[in-house]
Amino acid sequence: MRQAIVSDIHGNEPALLAVMADIEAQKVDEIICLGDVVGYGPRPRQCLVTALDYKLTLLGNHEEAVLFGAVGFNDKARKAIDWTREELLTGGSMDGDDAVARDRQLWDFIGSLRKSEQDGEFAYVHGSPRDPTREYVFAQDRFDQHKMNEIFASFDGRACFMGHTHIPGVFEEDYSFRTPRDLGGTYPLGRKKALINVGSVGQPRDGDARACYVIFDFETVSYRRVEYDLDRAVGDFSSTPLPAYLARRLREGK
Ligand SMILES: [Fe+2]
Repeated sequence: MRQAIVSDIHGNEPALLAVMADIEAQKVDEIICLGDVVGYGPRPRQCLVTALDYKLTLLGNHEEAVLFGAVGFNDKARKAIDWTREELLTGGSMDGDDAVARDRQLWDFIGSLRKSEQDGEFAYVHGSPRDPTREYVFAQDRFDQHKMNEIFASFDGRACFMGHTHIPGVFEEDYSFRTPRDLGGTYPLGRKKALINVGSVGQPRDGDARACYVIFDFETVSYRRVEYDLDRAVGDFSSTPLPAYLARRLREGK
């Protein structure tokens, strides 16, 4: 059994297309998305349509913000949420009954997303098992033993997969954090409990502009980095009022 686990697509259609082609070549059995399909990027609808076919998509804080309001968001992120909601309410570039029916399906999909999933020995969330849509777990949190103890106690099984920070890497119960580079690109599950950040498809922030996701065969996590058409991704912003900064940061991977 092989899973592709993606997260934080953020309306970046060119990145998602490249990742879907890479997943196709990896011969996986199922695709799981840890949330934030929308927000920041100019192609929320197209990314949601792709996610409809996944085995499971979880609720991210950006879907939560589209549904219930952008609480705690910075100005640029809030602007993007307001635009995304408007875009999904007004049918976008497609006219007529088809657009209305399709968008109703997308709203139903967003409204149906769960915050977490437990599948045998593995847990799946957007942000953290303690607070699935809101809490960030950054590399420096490994020095906060109280926080890490509580987070590791918040899930059952061998590993919990998450996204949200857009920074890939693996935390273990002994307060360590290793990046995919530290790991040589693969992480074999051991006896220690692990918290595995799968990185971001559509807005990587670890200094590598390539899209990031993982393949998981229930023993080993393999990080994948995928080049995509950055010019097209940046160009997609020009037909929207989204802040230019959100396009610029894609080139830097920050
Ligand atoms: Fe995100």
